[in-house]
Amino acid sequence: MSSTINTVAVLGGTGNLGTHIVRALLVGGFTVTILTRPGSTSPRPSFSPYTVPFTEVDYSSPSSLRDAFQGQDAVVSVLATAVVQEQKKIIDAAVEAGVKRFVPSEFGVNTRKAGIEKTRIGELLAGKRGFVDYLISKEGDGISWTGLSTGLFFDPVHVLSNGLGGIDIKNGKATIIDSGTEPWPASLRSHVGRAVSEILRHPDLTRNQYLSTASFNVSQNQLLKIVEELTGKKLEVANVSSKDIFKQGEEKLKRGDYSAFVEFLKVHFLADGAGNALGEEESANEKLGLVTEDVRAVVKGYLEGEGLLAA
Ligand SMILES: NC(=O)c1ccc[n+]([C@@H]2O[C@H](COP(=O)([O-])OP(=O)(O)OC[C@H]3O[C@@H](n4cnc5c(N)ncnc54)[C@H](OP(=O)(O)O)[C@@H]3O)[C@@H](O)[C@H]2O)c1
Repeated sequence: MSSTINTVAVLGGTGNLGTHIVRALLVGGFTVTILTRPGSTSPRPSFSPYTVPFTEVDYSSPSSLRDAFQGQDAVVSVLATAVVQEQKKIIDAAVEAGVKRFVPSEFGVNTRKAGIEKTRIGELLAGKRGFVDYLISKEGDGISWTGLSTGLFFDPVHVLSNGLGGIDIKNGKATIIDSGTEPWPASLRSHVGRAVSEILRHPDLTRNQYLSTASFNVSQNQLLKIVEELTGKKLEVANVSSKDIFKQGEEKLKRGDYSAFVEFLKVHFLADGAGNALGEEESANEKLGLVTEDVRAVVKGYLEGEGLLAA
């Protein structure tokens, strides 16, 4: 059986990341179908000049899923974190329909990193890790898989508006965790889209592998310096310790508030000594033919668009 992938079904292709993946797949020459929930209120994006069919699928119905997967070489799940538990039924239906490659909804923390299951973030991501385990258990059933960790998404609109990077240009403030020198991996969503497209373009090179990619590694202090240089304005800096952020997360968890994920995410990536920057040896960028991007150019492009560059 040929391993070539031509047809791809994307679940969650209307979402925050999914739209970028769909666009990259279309640019990559794949025939794409977006699967969407019946009654979904997600706006249907335009992929002009391409046209993409939307197929409504009841994710709780194995036969509905099987029908939707007929003739699809690959399935890419970009489902929202809150609903990734739907993936077991989806994987089962993909196996039954003869899908060759499954890409599960990972796209963040490396859930396969040694010891991650003993950390708070790892505990909260046990579900995601379990689906990769499940895919591994299905390797003998004709389906193969590729997982992709991407670090934190780097969307300047959010990163520079009091997002996880702690920089808040509008209010002239920055919240720096510990020393602010810890580098973390960050990916533009367009970069993640290209990575998925390259994974499917090279099915033999990426079969049954968990890969990691990032547009670049960056620290809070580097980001702060770039922003201050480009805007010509100093931000008011507040320092917080990762221990305090961890405690805040623990208190939230005690109350059953799972938004604690954000606190643990900050600690996982930004705390001194976190050690989650993507090293060259672990990065799949070369394997996938992806270039490392220039964080300064990305920030400059955003600030220019917003009219915030220093004169
Ligand atoms: N690394 C990072 O910084 C970062 C940040 C955000 C997300 N992520 C990861 O990226 C992946 C995708 O996240 P996202 O933010 O792109 O997701 P999203 O935009 O919130 O949702 C993606 C799609 O999931 C479907 N969906 C939403 N609620 C659903 C429900 N209750 N039942 C079934 N389907 C539902 C919707 O598609 P339809 O309405 O068309 O059915 C939606 O467009 C996740 O694995 C997430 O953890 C990573």
